[in-house]
Amino acid sequence: MKTIAFIAGVLATTAAAIPALVQGNTGPIPYTSTYSVVARPKQVVNGTEPTGGLPGAIGYYDFGLNVDYNLICYHIRLNGFKGEYESPAASATHLHEAARGQSGPPRIAFPNPKKTDGRHGRVSVGCLQGPFVTGLEDPETGEDYGADFQVSQIEENPEGFFSDVHSSLALAGAVRGQLA
Ligand SMILES: *[C@@H]1O[C@H](CO)[C@@H](O)[C@H](O)[C@H]1NC(C)=O
Repeated sequence: MKTIAFIAGVLATTAAAIPALVQGNTGPIPYTSTYSVVARPKQVVNGTEPTGGLPGAIGYYDFGLNVDYNLICYHIRLNGFKGEYESPAASATHLHEAARGQSGPPRIAFPNPKKTDGRHGRVSVGCLQGPFVTGLEDPETGEDYGADFQVSQIEENPEGFFSDVHSSLALAGAVRGQLA
């Protein structure tokens, strides 16, 4: 009887842990949420000042998150990008923390989209897991802006985050899109 009670206890614990993982699962990677973002030049700001971004460019940022793994999978396509990728961070393709019309620190740096022969223009696809490294330090803590970042923060407040990409022809950003 003792053994059965123990097994039942283990099963109960396991069962309690699983729902968070399978919730929202629509495929082999158990995402807890997904986002499809269209990023445009007109959303780019420097501080709060609209810059106009890089006219003619557009970005499609699709994300799948798993908060239990602190994982973000990304499928980023850029069309009409011009100039060179340019940013003081580890890459020029970012998730930043700021509301619409405002500026804020990068939390995740994605590999820059590479030119393809196909219809997608430039593409970057893969997954990253925290702790994240943006290559930029918070001067107040001396830590990388991504070090303590949890993707659960995105799910809690998607309006507070945006994706962008920076060009030598549009340093403040070529295109930008809020997650919500
Ligand atoms: C943002 O604006 C400030 C003030 O005009 C300027 O000094 C700075 O170079 C601009 N930054 C970018 C990235 O364009």
